[in-house]
Amino acid sequence: MSAGAGKPWGGRFAQGQDPEAEAFTASLAFDRRLWPHDIEGSVAWARALARAGLISEGELTALLDGLAAVRAELAEGRFPFRRELEDIHMNIERRLVELAGPVGGRLHTGRSRNDQIALDERLYLREVIARVDEGVREVQAALLDRAEEHLGAAMPGYTHLQRAQPVLLSHHLLAYVVMLERDRDRLRDGRARVNVLPLGAGALAGAAFPIDREALARELGFTVPSANSMDAVSDRDFVVEFLSHAAILGMHLSRLAADLTLWATSEFGFVEFSDTFATGSSIMPQKKNPDVAELIRGKSGRLYGNLVAVLATMKGLPLTYNSDMQEDKEPLFDSVDTLRAVLAVAPPMLRSLTFKVERMREAAGAHYSTATDLADYLVRKGLPFREAHEVVGRTVRHGLAQGKELGDLTLEELRGFSPLIEADVHRALTVEASLAARAVLGGTAPDAVRRALAAARALAEKGGHP
Ligand code: ARG
Repeated sequence: MSAGAGKPWGGRFAQGQDPEAEAFTASLAFDRRLWPHDIEGSVAWARALARAGLISEGELTALLDGLAAVRAELAEGRFPFRRELEDIHMNIERRLVELAGPVGGRLHTGRSRNDQIALDERLYLREVIARVDEGVREVQAALLDRAEEHLGAAMPGYTHLQRAQPVLLSHHLLAYVVMLERDRDRLRDGRARVNVLPLGAGALAGAAFPIDREALARELGFTVPSANSMDAVSDRDFVVEFLSHAAILGMHLSRLAADLTLWATSEFGFVEFSDTFATGSSIMPQKKNPDVAELIRGKSGRLYGNLVAVLATMKGLPLTYNSDMQEDKEPLFDSVDTLRAVLAVAPPMLRSLTFKVERMREAAGAHYSTATDLADYLVRKGLPFREAHEVVGRTVRHGLAQGKELGDLTLEELRGFSPLIEADVHRALTVEASLAARAVLGGTAPDAVRRALAAARALAEKGGHP
């Protein structure tokens, strides 16, 4: 017996592995979560071997029974994991041989861990993408419900974090629904590239047996087999893409959380977090901190980090498989877990928020928020916009000096800046008129927002994709 006995590669080795090296190279601690996919792939591979005449029907049955027994052990938490077997693939294979006998040793015919891990990750991600899509739809549904509930409530819209023009609260919330719809699009698009079968690529050059890869792809629900065996075992684009989509989704949720934490300040006073989604201070008795929102914002950092980690790992790797690629898993799993946590907590947090609509309405009409409407009024009376801008700028300066809002200036005062201003001007300067004027497709006029809401609702309810 060679000193490498116990390892699947024992034959070649005269010495056992150094314990530090063994601990260092093992991936079992994290890749064990891939076990359902590893078994699914092995079942399909066993069938493909039988179809190719490489194993008998009896052997196929023995392999399938053995795999079912291994699956049961894993599902019931009584699988004997062995770190010295390095990863989940070799753990499962060794256990199969123990349970099914020497026929278990036929399963790896024509297969390599290199095409096997690529397969497992693709099967795993396919499932993850469906779950993430579901989670994003939950966030959309919460936003849509709140938008519908407060349809008509006005608030200040901001640019440069300065009050800019009145908008509907619903319009603001719908902006996030639209962003999240793009995230769903990206996930669906990325799924097309996840859904390619790597199995049959072997270690790198392709399996040396007549495997029907088209049939195998169909059986595993992939659209096509990979076109190049070398690419198939060294490609992690689909991981990078998913991590990128996760990072962008995280960025959107982070911005939503940033808006809400800002709105929850005494300075804004636009929302109050429910006690159930806030925390207190250990020293300041009066504090109510928006920790949940802050952490949603904070989690985006690790989503970005995971993307950059895998990009950096892949850069400069010569073809084909390299062990560096084992480092794709922890960032991937961390992003999956992080997204799962964020998507679970965001909807109930949103649903339990109190919007302080009176305070928002008050702010919406203050600080010359309808100055653009006065300029637009003058444009409708025939003045070129640039001149109107100048006229209103001077009017605002006058108002500031007098401590008066535009609507508080008398008709005479206003006419001092332009003779085009008439008695109908005050009506044009209200928040309601300002909102109603923006009836353009995609604008904040109540009718436009009502239509946008219905359209967004229809999209968000369209499940089943990606
Ligand atoms: N644990 C490995 C990974 O995660 C599986 C493939 C290993 N292949 C190999 N030849 N070492 O990438």
